[in-house]
Amino acid sequence: MSTHPMHGPNRFKLGVFSANADGGLTLTRVPERWPATWDGIVEVAQMADRAGIEFFLPIARWKGFGGEMNSREWSFETFTFAAGIAAATRNIAVFSTVHVPMVHPVFAAKALATVDHISGGRAGLNIVCGWNPEEFGLFGLQMIEDRYGQGLEWAEIMGRIHADTGPFDYEGSYYKLKGVSGRPAPLQRPRPVTLNAAFSPPGRDFAARAADFLFTTFTEIEKGRATIDDIAARAAAQGREVGVFTTCHVVCRPSQAEAEDYYEHYAVAMQDAASVDHYMGAKEKFSGSHEADAYRLHRKRFAGGAGTYPLVGTPAHIAAEMVRMAETGFAGTTVSFVNFRDELPYFIAEVLPLLRDAGLRVA
Ligand SMILES: Cc1cc2nc3c(=O)[nH]c(=O)nc-3n(C[C@H](O)[C@H](O)[C@H](O)COP(=O)(O)O)c2cc1C
Repeated sequence: MSTHPMHGPNRFKLGVFSANADGGLTLTRVPERWPATWDGIVEVAQMADRAGIEFFLPIARWKGFGGEMNSREWSFETFTFAAGIAAATRNIAVFSTVHVPMVHPVFAAKALATVDHISGGRAGLNIVCGWNPEEFGLFGLQMIEDRYGQGLEWAEIMGRIHADTGPFDYEGSYYKLKGVSGRPAPLQRPRPVTLNAAFSPPGRDFAARAADFLFTTFTEIEKGRATIDDIAARAAAQGREVGVFTTCHVVCRPSQAEAEDYYEHYAVAMQDAASVDHYMGAKEKFSGSHEADAYRLHRKRFAGGAGTYPLVGTPAHIAAEMVRMAETGFAGTTVSFVNFRDELPYFIAEVLPLLRDAGLRVA
């Protein structure tokens, strides 16, 4: 088994996020919005794989966000998705994004090990503890206060199964299990690479204990440094190191004006306003995924890319922004597009060489 892409040589790593869901990360009505058909997704994954992009990361969603398009109701389940993408690619890491409360850890351990074998050791796990009560309701669950307490038990059970040291009983607050085991163990030892998607302090504490990387947001690049320092301190208290990835939406065009005009078009003129209201309202009320300012200042970013940071402009502008992120201390970012298949080729052709020239990537 070769080095996992998340531990590969590039100083600033890249992933493609949310291609498994309709609209990608956008809440827009433009006709070219991402339809997330299987053939299109495979084409995008293979394109990213050939270009040396490190990882393919799905979003975990069970309900849409209403409005005209009900974006994200159409989304592929992420373990089966990763298995399919693994079989269609050669080098890229294939992540699954898994909701702790909705998916039992004994099942998740086996599904993840299966993807790890199919992919030859390229599996990854993005643990999400959940924020959306409508999705909890769909499973007949209440959202609990101690989401990360449950998450720690969940991760511990999975870790013990993957350690493959024989059957064990588990007596926790959230899980009481008898004779637990599961084989095969994953190819990656001691376990597949793990992200935790969160922003809040309890989320960071969870990442410090249970994940290799925190996957998080910021409103301005320089503000990311405080998050990075904070998670580094929390991880050090556990005797661990945890890198930080972030997430961006991209509009890359030959001229700055062209990119900004298109951003204005899809994220303002053509935004799916009712779904933006619904999404922002629920996120602000129930999650700590963003800095408080984000909701007041950045409606366009929520329509444009679910509140992630916008990379809008020429290839040179986008490369320069990524250099700033790397200098701030981010290990990498995900990118998402209005239409992944139409827009990823230009990003690969024009931005990746600039990142190489800037010393951020060797491949
Ligand atoms: C970068 C990022 C990606 C996320 N991806 C998902 C996802 O795919 N599905 C989901 O239900 N929640 C997702 N979340 C939400 C988190 O899992 C978490 O539930 C939310 O951030 C609230 O927890 P917090 O208050 O600890 O941040 C994401 C959060 C962040 C910051």
